[in-house]
Amino acid sequence: MVKICCIGAGYVGGPTMAVIALKCPSIEVAVVDISVPRINAWNSDQLPIYEPGLEDVVKQCRGKNLFFSTDVEKHVSEADIIFVSVNTPTKTRGLGAGKAADLTYWESAARMIADVSKSNKIVVEKSTVPVKTAEAIEKILTHNSKGIHFQILSNPEFLAEGTAIQDLLKPDRVLIGGRETPGGRKAIQALKDVYAQWVPEDRIIATNLWSAELSKLAANAFLAQRISSVNAMSALCEATGADVSQVSHAVGKDSRIGPKFLNASVGFGGSCFQKDILNLIYICECNGLPEVANYWKQVIKVNDYQKNRFVNRVVSSMFNTVSGKKIAALGFAFKKDTGDTRETPAIDVCKGLLGDGARVSIYDPQVSEDQIQRDLSMNKFDWDHPLHLQPMSPTAVKQVSVVWDAYVATKDAHGICILTEWDEFKTLDYQRIYDNMRKPAFVFDGRNIVNVKKLREIGFIVYSIGKPLDPWLKDMPAMA
Ligand code: NAD
Ligand code: UDX
Repeated sequence: MVKICCIGAGYVGGPTMAVIALKCPSIEVAVVDISVPRINAWNSDQLPIYEPGLEDVVKQCRGKNLFFSTDVEKHVSEADIIFVSVNTPTKTRGLGAGKAADLTYWESAARMIADVSKSNKIVVEKSTVPVKTAEAIEKILTHNSKGIHFQILSNPEFLAEGTAIQDLLKPDRVLIGGRETPGGRKAIQALKDVYAQWVPEDRIIATNLWSAELSKLAANAFLAQRISSVNAMSALCEATGADVSQVSHAVGKDSRIGPKFLNASVGFGGSCFQKDILNLIYICECNGLPEVANYWKQVIKVNDYQKNRFVNRVVSSMFNTVSGKKIAALGFAFKKDTGDTRETPAIDVCKGLLGDGARVSIYDPQVSEDQIQRDLSMNKFDWDHPLHLQPMSPTAVKQVSVVWDAYVATKDAHGICILTEWDEFKTLDYQRIYDNMRKPAFVFDGRNIVNVKKLREIGFIVYSIGKPLDPWLKDMPAMA
């Protein structure tokens, strides 16, 4: 029986391995982690991450051919194929601080693999890593291997949160990079055999190691670039009276462009886009390509601009101050159908409003008060470390309350900011909400999900990203 071990039981390791276990009953899959609470949660009824369909898959396989454990060394030493899916945060100190990937966790995983291995192994990079990481990992493994042979593969993960299970069951492609040697080709074939149990062969792409590593950074940069492009257009739409939804619909109809990833928003978030682009920028700079680096920098700058622009719209619309006013934030997760808040635009928006003196009442169906308080007090990039290494319970931000109901959040509020596109926000009783708010009552829709016409009929002053402006907002400066 082939044995797989995955180091790192996070958003990628957990769902990915659960689907491999589901589709390959003859393979034994162990997911290991240094975080005891995380592994306990994977073994309980309350999984550590919220992802539609995940619970079902885990329940079908757990205890049969899928195991979650903190006994990292035992499972690593027994495995034939080891996936490494640990954190790769942005460095906050030293060379490349603020951009380069911090490979501390990856390196310690590699050293541990070398220490405990007693048989030949295939080591698979599942984490997103800088180009040429495989070379460094290979060196660590071979210099410490006591004669054991390791083959390194790059198999980046393309799942998106909220749709992870569907993405894993029906991937657009599976990318496997390896050495162009007989040993490398054999290792690629071994991993192909795993995926081929449910993924059509023509969707499994084999490349060299560096192409696979770079393709992951490139794919995320391209996706984020589309969002920054449409968000840049949204500012111009507001200035000209065009409607960004109509513009992106018309643009996306061009089959060369396509309709996806053209929704204007308050900004993109999530653990990958910003981190991976910063990483790409750093690699360009290190390779003497400042023009290329500057091109990609702009994608992040526009994203920051969009978040600032949103806060400025809120403040300037409300007589240039939100001091002492109650603002309801509907949604905190970085997108719908996940409880993940890593790099969510809601953090910057809430911080901006708090900076102007607002009282913020937050409701998100999947995010806990503890998480929100941590996010609002944590330093930039601190989130991307194993839980037990993150700063301990920071002091709560007093002007923030977290509630479990949209109606409670909006009661007596002066304004509402919609920050995540949860379906339930589309069907709220906005008349009831309006009746319980201070007047004039404002809605700032950062996800373009409300029916603007209906809300204006009720009496709201509505701002919707990239849509023709409410007469109220026309004379207010967009950037303070
Ligand atoms: P995560 O923080 O959810 O999970 C990483 C896990 O690794 C943590 O539970 C941590 O405790 C564990 N870990 C760290 N060092 C360890 C060690 N030495 N031994 C055992 N366990 C260790 O992160 P994630 O979102 O799953 O991302 C993992 C990697 O995949 C990152 O490189 C990320 O960029 C990449 N990625 C993420 C996504 C996504 O949607 N989240 C998608 C594609 C790729
Ligand atoms: C992304 C990539 O899509 C995935 O392939 C990769 O493996 C990890 O990074 P993820 O961050 O989970 O996935 O979600 P995604 O759906 O890409 O959304 C990222 C952010 O962009 C969210 O904040 C989302 O709200 C925003 N977004 C997305 C927009 O603002 N407009 C869009 O049109 C699409």
